[in-house]
Amino acid sequence: MIKNLNNFYSIAPMMGKTDSYFCFLMKIINEKTYIYSEMMHSETIIRTNILDKYKILKNLSNIAIQIAGNCPKSMAIAAKKASGFGFSEININCGCPSKNVLAGEFGLSLLNNPSLVRKCATAIKNETNTNISVKTRIGIDYIENDKLLDSFLYEVNLSGIKKYIIHARNGILGKLSTKKNLTIPPLKYERVFNLKNKFHSNDIIINGGFLNTLSYEKYKNKIDGIMIGREAYKNPWIFSNKEILFKDKIKIVIKYIEGLKKYFVDKRFNNQALHHIQNIFNNNYGAKDWRIAVNKSINNNDLQYLLNYIKCNKLGDKLE
Ligand SMILES: Cc1cc2nc3c(=O)[nH]c(=O)nc-3n(C[C@H](O)[C@H](O)[C@H](O)COP(=O)(O)O)c2cc1C
Repeated sequence: MIKNLNNFYSIAPMMGKTDSYFCFLMKIINEKTYIYSEMMHSETIIRTNILDKYKILKNLSNIAIQIAGNCPKSMAIAAKKASGFGFSEININCGCPSKNVLAGEFGLSLLNNPSLVRKCATAIKNETNTNISVKTRIGIDYIENDKLLDSFLYEVNLSGIKKYIIHARNGILGKLSTKKNLTIPPLKYERVFNLKNKFHSNDIIINGGFLNTLSYEKYKNKIDGIMIGREAYKNPWIFSNKEILFKDKIKIVIKYIEGLKKYFVDKRFNNQALHHIQNIFNNNYGAKDWRIAVNKSINNNDLQYLLNYIKCNKLGDKLE
């Protein structure tokens, strides 16, 4: 990532991936990284202590929370609670096509119901001063025209929302698995660039299929930002703002594990935190043995094992 472009690129919300621990890791790699949390339902935020996990972070600057739901009152209460925790932005999920989400009539269903999104956004605005954004898709099913998304923005803009993140691929209602809907149907970047031309006073962020943080010059006049999902998880180093050598990577991983050790000292260990570093040395020599070591550490709930593994120079030995 080129210096000072931290706000052009962001990391996409991903269930089971962009949790508090992944945010913690990314902040060690580059404290300015802009990240969207995995989706959390408004009622979960209200009724559970799910947000407590974010106390592992010193502060939540540049961390947006993605809230799912469709009840304006519930969304507003959840947003108020999230704002109290210090999240920098409240993002409303209007793009998830999973069966459970559609059954609850939130996520992608909301692209068909802009007046309800407007009500949710207005209710949130009445409860908090935190910036609000919406993440959605370019359309529903296999319909290729702009009508649906244009009328969505016209309506939701009336709530005062400025920022929209657009996954440049239609969402398919019910007929495709969530996973397949990440590759089918094809991406249509031009539709998002056209949206920016039509709604030039909105901040429009494009998402889908981006693999690095090097294309600012190419896209800076077409769009306000690029959001990266799967590749950011696979290769988080692309968000570093300086050249990163293998020894720097090791230092970062040590800092992460030591941070986890401190955080979990009086809590039940959540081994999801280690999944985030399982593939972190991919493309480096020793990556396979590292994955095995992480697995061992997960199975034994043993963070010290990984620190010892690094200290014994098991990674470094194989590299040089
Ligand atoms: C494992 C996984 C979980 C996801 N969870 C969410 C989610 O919670 N909320 C959301 O808006 N999108 C979610 N997405 C979609 C991503 O945010 C993003 O729109 C999609 O992966 C396309 O970007 P990419 O091609 O850069 O990965 C998820 C994607 C993946 C792969």
